[in-house]
Amino acid sequence: DKNYYDELYRPQFHFTPEKNWHNDPNGLVYYDGEYHLFYQYNPKGKEWGYMHWGHAVSTDLVHWEHLPIALYPDENSEDKERCTAFSGSAIVDKNNLLGKQTGDVKTLVAFYTSQHCGQRIAYSTDRGRTWEKYEGNPIIPYDETDDARDPKVVWHEPTGKYVMALYRKTSEEEKSKGVSFYVSENLVDWEWKSHVYGYYECPDLVPMKVSNRPEETKWVLFDGDGSYMVGNFDGEEFSPESAKMRGDFGKNYYATQTWSNIPEEDGRIIQIAWMRGGEFPDMPFNGQMTFPAELELTKFNFGYKVTRRPVKEIELLHGKAYQWEKENLIPGINKNLVKRVSGDCLHIYGEFDIKTCNNFGFMIRAGRNDPGTELLYNVKRGTLSVLGSTAPLAPIDNKITLEILIDRASVEVYANGGQTVISNCFTPGEKSDDLIFFNNGGEVGVDKLSIYEVESAWQT
Ligand code: FRU
Repeated sequence: DKNYYDELYRPQFHFTPEKNWHNDPNGLVYYDGEYHLFYQYNPKGKEWGYMHWGHAVSTDLVHWEHLPIALYPDENSEDKERCTAFSGSAIVDKNNLLGKQTGDVKTLVAFYTSQHCGQRIAYSTDRGRTWEKYEGNPIIPYDETDDARDPKVVWHEPTGKYVMALYRKTSEEEKSKGVSFYVSENLVDWEWKSHVYGYYECPDLVPMKVSNRPEETKWVLFDGDGSYMVGNFDGEEFSPESAKMRGDFGKNYYATQTWSNIPEEDGRIIQIAWMRGGEFPDMPFNGQMTFPAELELTKFNFGYKVTRRPVKEIELLHGKAYQWEKENLIPGINKNLVKRVSGDCLHIYGEFDIKTCNNFGFMIRAGRNDPGTELLYNVKRGTLSVLGSTAPLAPIDNKITLEILIDRASVEVYANGGQTVISNCFTPGEKSDDLIFFNNGGEVGVDKLSIYEVESAWQT
């Protein structure tokens, strides 16, 4: 069907279910050549509610195949808000701790919150195609005061135990909200160890090698909005060594999670998030995921920082390419360098020398009667802004880099090698497809600019 996935605001290379509401990515696990993406899903409508785990798989993080719903609510009661399947994570049960493996295929184990019914396990012995609920559920009983949810399970090599990071409050008080850590040797018996305050929903605990210090590994604790602290984790307690830093300066980055079990020879840490808050007028679906991104931890002179860039697999969708080098742009003279470029899906990579300009940037999805959406670097303020979001961005040697992904309903900007990222949903003008580059107040050097048309992942 040639109209498949081709609606006006249908993302062409960002994940969406065919129809209805979705939110958080769940159960991200790589196994046997496939990236699994589960997600909070309401099969009954375009509003949040009655949560299930939807499911898709991909061999390349770009082309997704939809699979049947993986997890249903635990009780088929008339009260739809009881025991629905809230967020969680998944691992490969390498040592058959759950005892469900019979042949060579490893068991996939999902940890999820059953709303009002505790933390639970589901497992699959057929590469994620069908799922059973564990007979000993719940593994952590429901407690009506702590509001616990979103278990993220990670292997802690030094102690040889699994660790669960679980969002919860330790008392009725708002300020007790945070992440509790539990440990287990067998995946089903969990012991509480410690609590970190100041976190809310969907935690992720990730061991990360420091890119410029080969012997060093740190543990990074992510919050639901992608903000994070860098520190150490001894298997029981997290000791932060940094302040909490923002992972994204946009309006639509939420419920982040990283894939588990990515093979060591690949070694990447890949994160995806739900783009909370988008609007998709008259569309059959409601929501989209960010484009998967690779995270790196680097020690800069000011401290540790996680950088984020789109995964290299975006290249699989590259269509027509446009390239410029060493262009010196004087305002008003060589206006709109990129005037040959139009389209609703673009991957832009540029290196800019600020020279004497006051500001420069792009107008995205401009049209005949539509100025488009402005992406602006303001030199005096040292800020990057787009779609109402502004991030501080200091030049490096008077230069900045911008990598931009434009899809039918989103703009993601990764600046200075992914040190600053803005992820936003947007609703462009219907007939506005032009890209414009502008600079004001003085010269800007375009040291390098590559723009690729991005093909639809759903048609190729
Ligand atoms: C975050 C969240 C999670 C919860 C899920 C329910 O967006 O509120 O804490 O598990 O969504 O859909």
